[in-house]
Amino acid sequence: MGYNLLKGKRGIIFGALNDMSIAWKVAELAHQQGATFTLSNTHVACRMGSVTDLAEKTGSEVIPADATNISDLENVINKSTEVLGGKIDFILHSIGMSLNVRKKRPYHDLDYNYLNKTLDISAISFHKLIQTAFKADAMNEWGSIVGLSYIAAQRSLYGYNDMADAKSLLESIARSFGYIYGREKKVRINTVSQSPTVTTAGSGVKGIDGLIDFSERMSPLGNADAEDCANYCLTLFSDLTRKVTMQNLYHDGGFSNMGMSLRAMKQYNKSFDSDDVNDLY
Ligand SMILES: NC(=O)c1ccc[n+]([C@@H]2O[C@H](COP(=O)([O-])OP(=O)(O)OC[C@H]3O[C@@H](n4cnc5c(N)ncnc54)[C@H](O)[C@@H]3O)[C@@H](O)[C@H]2O)c1
Repeated sequence: MGYNLLKGKRGIIFGALNDMSIAWKVAELAHQQGATFTLSNTHVACRMGSVTDLAEKTGSEVIPADATNISDLENVINKSTEVLGGKIDFILHSIGMSLNVRKKRPYHDLDYNYLNKTLDISAISFHKLIQTAFKADAMNEWGSIVGLSYIAAQRSLYGYNDMADAKSLLESIARSFGYIYGREKKVRINTVSQSPTVTTAGSGVKGIDGLIDFSERMSPLGNADAEDCANYCLTLFSDLTRKVTMQNLYHDGGFSNMGMSLRAMKQYNKSFDSDDVNDLY
């Protein structure tokens, strides 16, 4: 639906890898809503991936960057203001990666070099990106920066591993920098805590299918998919949410406030034979 919600706004979208990516959906929908933007991803992802298809579709330029590298980020920020013809109104940070998860190192046997990489790529890059934009004075007043999080930042969820620590840090950065950027430039910074979603990054999480089924049963509205998430991000980029900042906003069909649902209870009870159920009392 075209409401022209982002008409005239300029943005940078990080993290569109393929058409399952949350950032991909954000780009498609932001384009529909009248925004112009650049796309960024790692050099490898830009070479190998289908980012150029998305760029063609949305009339955007691709500017490769390793989000942990400051000079790459400076280049993205500078080139984006040049290409788009002015300061930036919105930035999406849709970036996450854990080598411990990839290499199947459990949380009680972490490789600390990998942990440093997880934190750098998935959380500190958020700070680096915001600081780079701040120093270059690249954002318009009332601009909006959004990062993507997950409820494992607050609660232990089996299999999420060191990404949980990265998400806690990501959310903290949104609060800490949100205060400064809001005070100095009226720029807002929030994180969206999204339902588990079938994407390339999501598929790496141990037991993701069970997790998706569990939260689907637990959430009164069901899981939010990538497109739902993109729509929510657009509201945060729009002028309709000008006073929302420093928040971690749950976008999860109600999951975060549930303890037990009827649908989950029914499934849970199926795992007991009658003797086991009696043992409960
Ligand atoms: N999929 C889920 O279940 C889920 C749930 C909640 C939050 N999230 C978060 O959403 C965000 C987007 O993930 P997604 O699910 O769309 O998966 P995705 O795999 O499509 O996106 C992750 C992106 O991070 C990029 N990336 C990795 N290392 C990078 C680096 N050094 N520099 C720049 N980019 C880099 C990848 O190339 C990829 O485009 C991530 O922050 C993820 O943690 C995902």
